Amino acid sequence: MAAPAPLQAFRGELLSFSNDPRKDADGVHHIEDGLLVVADGLIERSGTAAELLPTLPAGTPVTDCRGRLLMPGFIDAHIHYPQTDIIASHGRQLLDWLNDYTFPAEAAFSSAAHGEAVAEFFLDELLRNGTTTAAVYATVHRQSADAFFAASERRGLRMICGKVMMDRNCPEFLRDTAASSYEDSAALIERWHGRDRLLYAVTPRFACTSTEEQLRFAGRLLDEHPGVLLQTHIAENVDEIRWVAELFPWSKSYLDVYDHFGLVRRGALYGHCIHFDDIDWKRMAATGTAAVHCPTSNLFLGSGLFDYDRAHAAGAAVALATDVGGGTSFSMLRTMHEAYKVAQMGRHTFTALDAFYLATLGGARSLGLDDRIGSFAPGREADFIVLDPQATPLLERRMERTRTLDEKLFVLMMLGDDRAVAQTYIGGAAALSAR
Ligand code: GUN
Ligand code: ZN
Repeated sequence: MAAPAPLQAFRGELLSFSNDPRKDADGVHHIEDGLLVVADGLIERSGTAAELLPTLPAGTPVTDCRGRLLMPGFIDAHIHYPQTDIIASHGRQLLDWLNDYTFPAEAAFSSAAHGEAVAEFFLDELLRNGTTTAAVYATVHRQSADAFFAASERRGLRMICGKVMMDRNCPEFLRDTAASSYEDSAALIERWHGRDRLLYAVTPRFACTSTEEQLRFAGRLLDEHPGVLLQTHIAENVDEIRWVAELFPWSKSYLDVYDHFGLVRRGALYGHCIHFDDIDWKRMAATGTAAVHCPTSNLFLGSGLFDYDRAHAAGAAVALATDVGGGTSFSMLRTMHEAYKVAQMGRHTFTALDAFYLATLGGARSLGLDDRIGSFAPGREADFIVLDPQATPLLERRMERTRTLDEKLFVLMMLGDDRAVAQTYIGGAAALSAR
């Protein structure tokens, strides 16, 4: 990767958000012929090309992206890198799928070399799809998190990862103990959290595979390391929910289990949140806890339909995610597409602006990183993407009939995928070889 010029500019159609478009129509920033100015890997300013071009110092390199759409890089708020090789495995629902495919695949990550090789492929795939930040599960093995962080650091990426904590109800070869999971997580936090652009997430897999002692340790890690995130799964599948009620007979709900151990809080990312009631949503909103919508996974595993209207009305933070390998695509465009269909099945609304907001600023807010990524506000890290609305013959043909921004974005999310990502910039440097 060639080092970018200290000051450079990109000319094209710009789209970014400063607020949730559902709440604030002025939160959408769209400029047909815009200029994005990048200095030392950060967004310096953006505006119309007519206004900004004359202000650039002579000799400033300007990359011509006219006819293409520039937006902040996508944020995938829930994904499992060790499941890369089992994506699209035919089978049953969540608990059987974990036993049949996931656990055997995760066993191989006891080898650091295997973790390194998969992490490299996985990061290539994220970048090809325009994803510049992800909240990533490793496996129970400490070296699997080391491998992921090291690969991300070499590429200068802003990534979040955590070692899975799992001390019961799983194969012996994937089991840690409450004490070892605490010690390994603490050591990983020490080594990686806040190093370069990397952040740690305490990662109890889900309540079914943790003892109460382990969940207590997870809460302790958060208390002892302010700024560290938490990621886990919740209310994804009805059999899972029944099992949680048996394992924690004192609990009032699935969310109550995590709440009991101090895990329901700002900086916590809860994957799925499908089978939630009003009390759950109220609690999520009151505590600033983020719900992560994983539509391709929820359809693939037959888990159920996330209700964005309800989450939004309750005031909860929501992010969007692929959940590979339960999810069936690395593409956040494909993920938006499926989120639209999930909303349709529930007779809910879901606009293209909702989708692109969730994949950028909405995700950044959920991760508590909106002061660094997710928009084109001055000072944000210059992780952005160039989308080609004419990337395929069908896109090109259908795009000709679009009139408004909403129509254009909707066609892009319904027909687009990795082919529509013409370039991904990390800190202002191109990460993909020319397409
Ligand atoms: N619940 C617990 N572990 C997993 C996982 O790996 N994927 C999904 N989709 N749900 C889970
Ligand atoms: Zn998951």
